[in-house]
Amino acid sequence: MNRIVKDIPIFLRACQREPTEYTPVWLMRQAGRFLKEYRSLRRQYSFLTLCKTPELATKVTLLPIERLGVDAAIIFADILLPLEPMGIDLEFTKGEGPVIHNPPRSRSEVEGLRIIEAEEDLPFVMEAVRSVCRELKERIPLIGFSGAPFTLASYLIEGGGAKDFVRTKSLMYQDPPCWHFLMEKLSAVVISYLNAQIRAGAAVVQLFDSWAGTLSPRDYEEFVLPHNQRVFYALSSKVPAIHFATGAAGILGQMKAAGGDIIGVDWRIDLDEAWQRLGYDVGIQGNLDPAALLSPPEQIESRVAAILHAAGSRPGHIFNLGHGVLPQTPEENVITMVEAVHRLSRDR
Ligand code: CP3
Repeated sequence: MNRIVKDIPIFLRACQREPTEYTPVWLMRQAGRFLKEYRSLRRQYSFLTLCKTPELATKVTLLPIERLGVDAAIIFADILLPLEPMGIDLEFTKGEGPVIHNPPRSRSEVEGLRIIEAEEDLPFVMEAVRSVCRELKERIPLIGFSGAPFTLASYLIEGGGAKDFVRTKSLMYQDPPCWHFLMEKLSAVVISYLNAQIRAGAAVVQLFDSWAGTLSPRDYEEFVLPHNQRVFYALSSKVPAIHFATGAAGILGQMKAAGGDIIGVDWRIDLDEAWQRLGYDVGIQGNLDPAALLSPPEQIESRVAAILHAAGSRPGHIFNLGHGVLPQTPEENVITMVEAVHRLSRDR
């Protein structure tokens, strides 16, 4: 019997693979540049100032809740914030994205990285988490997040974003002990960062391993899996954890083995195939192509319908994009998507 408990938010019930009256939905990067109000705040403040000022981070976190009708909030912060207190000189440049001025690439440079204590080193994030939770009460759950060790390592070593990850893989292949030493440090940082957000009130956490799909299954097993496993193992088990990567069709089994209650997939694999391969003892998040939100409303709706059909009304589906919402996305198209997810999943 599908007994539906009404007082627990539907996003949390879906995370626990319990039946819900409709499919919950949120968007990666929902608190960002596609929102007019965000762009206007950014004319006054730098990105890092927004992240480091709890009142502003709170305001930005809440923007998509009011505008879009999504079922979860995600704290306005960035996966790269913990790198600064580790001793990294981080800058967000206009157009180029993040730049790291002192990328660690040798053993001694890795040794120099500090393992942070998130509560002391990133107090503004925890303050923002507490303040958002006060505003949202128990109505809408807040997602805390962190980059995964591999994705963080790739930004560190490349000195910013990358395409082919040559420097990252060179270190991994040429000096495995140094690689594992770096990954152990980053794992400790990620654990501290996520558990601090959970203590501050995050109801769910997401681990962004955005670029893990760039690895072969064997390399993932050797160089990433044990570290991600350690992260999931060390998380406060009270809250559900989402494990996300892009281009991960080849490493789904390994991602599941690493951990997470929900696996986040992108559009390069059909959701039904991904879920079947993962097994129905985990939830699934995804997986609309963000570019689909640039199409007319009827097409957005039919693509939403196809994904809901692939999920087959099984409990444990969280609707999302397969990656972050594109800055050029019209706000009304996102509203069309959210409304379609709610309406079409209710009818099923
Ligand atoms: O999802 C949300 O709305 C919450 C906030 C959030 C941001 N970054 C804010 C942000 C989240 C969850 C992230 C995660 C993040 N950050 C990831 C993982 C997800 C992914 O996209 O793969 C990564 C790799 C980063 C690192 C990062 N931060 C890059 C590469 C960039 C530049 C490119 C870009 O998208 O602008 C950022 C900047 C950033 N992080 C912005 C925002 C709103 C844009 C800053 C601006 O206003 O110019």
